Formats: sequence, structure tokens, C-alpha cells
Amino acid sequence: MSVRMPDHGFSDVLQSRFRRWTGLVPSAFRIAEPHILNFMGEGNCSVHDIAVPLPKKIMNLVFLGPPGAGKGTIAALAKDAFAIPHISTGDLFRANIKNETELGKLVKSILAAGDLVPDEVTIKMVENRLAEPDAAGGYILDGFPRTIAQADALSSMREPDHVVNFVLGRDEILKRLSGRRVCKSTGRTYHIIYNPPKVEGVDDETGEPLIQRDDDKEEAIMNRLDVYEKSTAPLIDYYRKKGILVDLDCSGKPEDILKALEKLLA
Ligand code: AP5
Ligand code: MG
Repeated sequence: MSVRMPDHGFSDVLQSRFRRWTGLVPSAFRIAEPHILNFMGEGNCSVHDIAVPLPKKIMNLVFLGPPGAGKGTIAALAKDAFAIPHISTGDLFRANIKNETELGKLVKSILAAGDLVPDEVTIKMVENRLAEPDAAGGYILDGFPRTIAQADALSSMREPDHVVNFVLGRDEILKRLSGRRVCKSTGRTYHIIYNPPKVEGVDDETGEPLIQRDDDKEEAIMNRLDVYEKSTAPLIDYYRKKGILVDLDCSGKPEDILKALEKLLA
């Protein structure tokens, strides 16, 4: 039996994957067997049925780790693998800055310096984001919580099932951050050596010039690393004591790190 596509919900990520694969707008889906969803393209159901893996269970994940460890890079892969949305507080702040919202004006200089946005502002923003329908089936929180107060607040919203501690040495962190380039409008991330764009200095898809984040300049990097040690690293013990922390070695290639993560969470 086919069911009409819901407007919102966990299937948003899967729907966009279907569109990417087939170029069609999915009009209906059917649960073919546990964890497999068959999408049907408009007007041509039998030809364009496609199976996509469903999340085995609702998964609430926190990606914890120093700046530049690769949280955003792995989250971009994991959100498809686990079919749960990637929620980066850094990206949310940067979108507000770009759109010149009140929140953006408030946090612009804080981000540029590499300091932390006050807890109450950050917690409210995450609370609103987790209330959106696509987060009902789970989340990948990238860069939140960053303080004990934020972790306590998250517990009262929805406790994570797993907290992934991204482990990487300081020298490699510095290399990754200083070589990072981003596309301002899409947020797509590159690295001048490890992940260069097809054409130097421009985004592969939009052709827009790549920029260096304000907080990837040397002074701000040093401050972010200090802030991490002082305010965020204590969360490693906080979550280890709760028995939900897993350590992830982030020194390899992104695809291998994703595989290791899938094993850890299996
Ligand atoms: P945010 O955007 O979260 O920055 P961050 O934690 O400092 O982390 P980054 O985005 O710098 O690093 P990443 O781990 O995502 O690494 P990436 O994948 O890009 O936060 C920015 C600011 O917002 C904060 O400083 C603060 O002001 C504010 N903020 C955010 N959350 C807050 C909160 N909860 N409370 C208060 N304030 C908050 O990778 C880095 C580079 O390495 C890239 O170039 C990438 O291509 C490359 N790379 C990645 N993986 C690999 C790999 N395996 N091999 C080779 N290269 C790799
Ligand atoms: Mg990031």
C-alpha cells in the first residue's frame, strides 16, 4: 500500500536524496520491509521505486570536539548515512549574521573573536531548532553543548543517546583550520590541501569565491582552542560518567572516519 508523502518529518532528508538520485519529486512512499522505504516518483511509480535505508532507531547524537577536528565534515556525511538532520550551532549563528537578523548582530563580534555566545541565547536557539519537525526523528548536534550549563539544558530537552568525542592532535587541528575555505552562501567547506575545490578559490557548484572564516585567522584560532580547553573539554568527563561517550579517532580520511563511527554506534 502506498501512502502520500508527509509534508514534514524525518523523511525530508530521504526525500531530498530521492530527488538527487532520480531528478523526480517523490509523490508517495511505502514501507517495503523494516527499515526500507520505497519512494515513488510522480506519475511513474513502477519504474522509479527506490529503496533507501531508514534509521534503525531514533538517534540523538552530539558531536563534541575541538575546533577543526572535522565535526562539520563528518556530520555532512553522517546526516545522510543515518537520515537525521545536521544541526550546527556555528552554522545557525553564521546564517543569522549573513541575514543581518537581531541575533546575527548580537553574535557577530563574538564569533569573529572565537568566544562563546552566552548560554541563554544559544540554548533558546537550539530549543527552537529541536522543536522543528525534521528533528523529531533524531538529531546530530554539532558544536552544542559547549558548556556544562548547555549540557544540563540539553538533558531537559532530549538527552543524547551517544556523544561522539572527536579526537585529533593539536598540530593537525592547526593545519586543518588554517587551510579551511568556505563558500559563504552555501556553507560548503573545503581545504586548500586535503579537500581543494575543482577550480582554485571558487565553490564547485555555485562558482562563488571561497573565503576564509574570520575565526580561522591565527589569533581567533588560538582563542578558540583556549575556550575549548576551559569551557568545553570538561564535557568529556561529564558524558563519560553518564556512560554515553564514545571516542572517535579523526586522523584518517572522512569516509574511513564515518565507517568507524558507524561501527561504534552499531
Ligand atoms: P563552529 O562553527 O561550531 O566552530 P568550531 O567548533 O570551532 O568547529 P569548526 O567548524 O571550526 O571545526 P569542525 O570540527 O566543524 O571542522 P571542519 O569539519 O570544518 O562555531 C563557531 C563559533 O560559533 C564558536 O567559536 C562560537 O563563537 C559560536 N558557537 C557555536 N556553537 C556554540 C555554542 N554551543 N555555545 C556558544 N557559542 C557557540 O573541518 C576543518 C577543516 O579540516 C576543513 O577545511 C575540512 O575540509 C578539513 N577536514 C575535515 N576532516 C578532515 C579529514 N578527515 N582529513 C583532512 N581534512 C579534513
Ligand atoms: Mg564546524
